[in-house]
Amino acid sequence: MCGIVGILGKGPVAAQLVDSLKRLEYRGYDSAGVATLDGGRILRRRAEGKLRNLEASLEKTPLGGAIGIGHTRWATHGAPTEANAHPHATERVAVVHNGIIENFRELRAELEAAGAVFQSQTDTEVVAHLVSKALEAGASPRAAVSQALGRLKGAFALAFIFAGEDDLIIGARRGSPLAIGHGEGENFLGSDAIALAPFTDAVTYLEDGDWVALTREGVEIFDETGAPAPRAAVRAAAAAIVVDKGNHRHFMAKEIAEQPEVVGHTLACFIDMAAGRIRLPDGADVDFSKLDRLAISACGTAYYAGLVARYWFEKFARLPVDIDIASEFRYREPPLSSGGLALVISQSGETADTLATLRHCRAQGMRIGAVVNVPTSTIAREADVVFPTVAGVEVGVASTKAFTCQLSVLAALAVKAGRDRGVLSEDDEAKLVSALVELPRLMAEALRLEPEIERLATTFAKAQDVLYLGRGTSFPIALEGALKLKEISYIHAEGYAAGELKHGPIALVDENVPVVVLAPYDPLFEKTASNMQEVAARGGKIVLVTDGEGPEHAGSAFAVLTLPKAYAFVSPMLYAIPVQLLAYHTAVFMGTDVDQPRNLAKSVTVE
Ligand code: AGP
Repeated sequence: MCGIVGILGKGPVAAQLVDSLKRLEYRGYDSAGVATLDGGRILRRRAEGKLRNLEASLEKTPLGGAIGIGHTRWATHGAPTEANAHPHATERVAVVHNGIIENFRELRAELEAAGAVFQSQTDTEVVAHLVSKALEAGASPRAAVSQALGRLKGAFALAFIFAGEDDLIIGARRGSPLAIGHGEGENFLGSDAIALAPFTDAVTYLEDGDWVALTREGVEIFDETGAPAPRAAVRAAAAAIVVDKGNHRHFMAKEIAEQPEVVGHTLACFIDMAAGRIRLPDGADVDFSKLDRLAISACGTAYYAGLVARYWFEKFARLPVDIDIASEFRYREPPLSSGGLALVISQSGETADTLATLRHCRAQGMRIGAVVNVPTSTIAREADVVFPTVAGVEVGVASTKAFTCQLSVLAALAVKAGRDRGVLSEDDEAKLVSALVELPRLMAEALRLEPEIERLATTFAKAQDVLYLGRGTSFPIALEGALKLKEISYIHAEGYAAGELKHGPIALVDENVPVVVLAPYDPLFEKTASNMQEVAARGGKIVLVTDGEGPEHAGSAFAVLTLPKAYAFVSPMLYAIPVQLLAYHTAVFMGTDVDQPRNLAKSVTVE
């Protein structure tokens, strides 16, 4: 949930640390800080709020030193104040941390009883005091860190610098990602390849339990037993990626607009366009005929993609699906078949709940498939088979292009499953594949609704509550639409199965409540239209999103958004676009921080 970076440089590193932290802001941005060594002494600068506050402070009074660590925070323990901002330090050591130390209370009590004076409410500060205490007892920095790591329970990626040691950074990884960047006469540590991109594309990803001693001339990696653990260096694609907004006002706007292109790229990885058939990427081999059921798990928007996929796997492949949000899945102890397939879905590939579910399913003897957008992520590296989304770097905290790419991959897998299990004919496959092939064009057409949606957003901006309704595969899109609006405009919204409204939620409806009805003109339309009338009869302000002949049945809708007519199979990817745009323009109208909404982070690497 936080971003960390370390630099063993040739010259002053403070500005480089900030440059790297800018690329890590997607991991959290409620406070930031750096620590450097100058003349052997630890110097620290921290600031509450956005990274630009720290940058301004450093510009005003620069920090010297050719070795340093930096951190951008998403608060887990302790309010997002300067006192709680990382790095945390004593005279002897400074540390930055991503993750949660679960036993920090007992460690803090023990350390305070031994005379340690704490300056913050964070879990991280206990790590600084543990290492400092061992150093005071005469341990070397490596021994001190090794002793401290043995006391910690929980997940962490850590980076340390030590007073008087101007050619040493120690890093450690357990449950949160950490990578080494290899330079010439300088070396780096970072939460991911994007953090290291300004310095190098030669990257080594640490494995769980690893710790590393970095000097300017070399890197020594050890596993959790302390034995040397040689890990390969790779050329990280992310290093070359220059992530900017182009001519868009926000990353989210750019990423919504990119969907036709990146969905096309993603589909091209799963479709033999010439033959008009599904063809899985090399290495992504799965035979669905051997499965008696499929387990799916994810969080947030990725979970909604899984909900859509359940309809597809069960309809087109007659494959029963057991799906749950990752934070619940393993705690309800579902019966899982050894040798079965568990499919996890994740944009970042670092979501702690989803990673924990992956490991739970593996422990139950299941094979792990991962639909993931970051090929170098932990989930991608721990899965048995990776089904890549090719959405490119998604910076906006609210997931958009990754979501429609996830849906595209899952749609292809459902067709493959139908063919494997002999319940889908070649003709059926050809029809479904052609629907997928025309999807990018239809999505580009759907994006033309933006001016109309921008005008509509002013109405939504005044609402206290908004409802989203859908049936069938439009129901998870209703859930997704509500999440998009909530997370970037801070307006309360809920998604419901349209047929469920009359069982209670309709009590919420009055003339102040916009109700977004997602209703492709398909066999379910009539049913949803009657739900719409129930809302209209109570004064609800209906926004009907439909296609084909749907507008003729709009009745007393407040507004109608007409999408291009499409095969029902691809409606979810198409109907995602208006709900994304509605959330975006409502948030812009309200002036919230669209790309970095309050309280959130792009990658939730704590449980
Ligand atoms: C989506 O807009 C949210 N930012 C959030 O729900 C997100 O989908 C969830 O945290 C899962 O993230 P992941 O796809 O990276 O695992």
